[in-house]
Amino acid sequence: MAEARMQISAEQGAFMAALVQLLAARRAFEVGVFTGYSALATALALKEAHPVGARLLACDISAGWTAIARGYWREAGVDDMIDLVLAPALETLDARIAAGEEGAYDLGFIDADKTGYDGYYERGLKLLRPGGALLFDNMLWSGRVVDPADATPDTTALRALAQKAKADDRVHSVLAAVGDGLLICIKK
Ligand SMILES: C[S@@+](CC[C@H](N)C(=O)[O-])C[C@H]1O[C@@H](n2cnc3c(N)ncnc32)[C@H](O)[C@@H]1O
Repeated sequence: MAEARMQISAEQGAFMAALVQLLAARRAFEVGVFTGYSALATALALKEAHPVGARLLACDISAGWTAIARGYWREAGVDDMIDLVLAPALETLDARIAAGEEGAYDLGFIDADKTGYDGYYERGLKLLRPGGALLFDNMLWSGRVVDPADATPDTTALRALAQKAKADDRVHSVLAAVGDGLLICIKK
């Protein structure tokens, strides 16, 4: 597919699956599904950690790309544990907070519109339990975050989030050189 570069790498999928195991995660959410690869890696690991009761909330706005995802989730036997919601993810996360799900999630993975990252960070911190982890993809942005000449909205948003997380007393954070840069924020 022309957009295939949007998919995370196999190495990153394996790394995220290891984080699921370390956290003994049972409930996770993902923002940015595309054709479903990162959700599949997460769901398989959640199911291994919790054969009964594992759930993944998957948020996207594309019916077309996520139709491909559903096919692979079905083939892998995890479709019944994934709740796919097609709506702007900020609305979906706000609805879950309003429904009383604060503190109910072990893990969140954010891989969608970069200017939305700060909003996903604040919602994500509410949804996570203490000790849970929030992961942000593309934090190196192919090196553009350290190019002072790049003041585009996406680059500016990623740079601001990295600085915010580093200074934020609510989290322990580390920027892992996995894929295009994976920011890991562990809620205190
Ligand atoms: C980089 S791709 C996700 C790749 C996926 N994590 C994978 O590994 O294959 C970004 C996705 O975010 C979705 N997206 C963009 N803006 C969004 C929004 N406001 N709410 C929810 N999803 C959004 C796009 O439709 C696209 O499928």
